[in-house]
Amino acid sequence: MNDVTILDDPVAGVQLAALRDERTTPEHFRHHARRLGSMLALRAVEDLPSEDSTVRTPLGDAPATGPGRTIVAVPVLRAGLGLLGGVHDVLPSALVGMIGLERDAETFQARRYYFKVPPLEGAWVLVLEPMLATGGSASDAVKALDAEGAEQVIVLSVVGTEQGVQRVLNENPGVKVVIGAIDPELDDDRYIVPGLGDFGDRLFGTPH
Ligand code: URA
Repeated sequence: MNDVTILDDPVAGVQLAALRDERTTPEHFRHHARRLGSMLALRAVEDLPSEDSTVRTPLGDAPATGPGRTIVAVPVLRAGLGLLGGVHDVLPSALVGMIGLERDAETFQARRYYFKVPPLEGAWVLVLEPMLATGGSASDAVKALDAEGAEQVIVLSVVGTEQGVQRVLNENPGVKVVIGAIDPELDDDRYIVPGLGDFGDRLFGTPH
């Protein structure tokens, strides 16, 4: 897998279009976020080392494979929770950590107010950060997870900007990003344009 993988297939495109559509209700937004979460996760673990085993069928032994590493999904609160169900749909054994980051409205700096993760030594960690605007929160999350000994950290995102993605990659050698789309720009409030608006607000129905 390359450092950056963009899900540009039409099936992911349907989910992304629905998430972008301003008419999509929180109920349907959650549905499409979950579906896209599954697609991002499947692409992220394409190169996951596997563990071989054998399974007995009614007619004989068949080779079988499964994940060869512990997988840990880490949603960045609160928006990242929208992708977690979809990750578990395809990777049911994934453990879960949580990172709480809050963006200061004036400085735009991310402040970490919560961090709880299972042991990460040797694990493959999927950081769920739907919007890579400046890349600041995702990069902060990756640094914290790297410090815990993760073998591979992959950021799963829905929409980003070139600058956001580049910041995550430049500040964290070895990290990978799997994303739905890269949009052209940020507005003065650091929202992605055209983007999809505030992911957390749209997911949970909170007014913006
Ligand atoms: N966070 C969001 O929810 N949306 C953006 O466009 C940028 C950051």
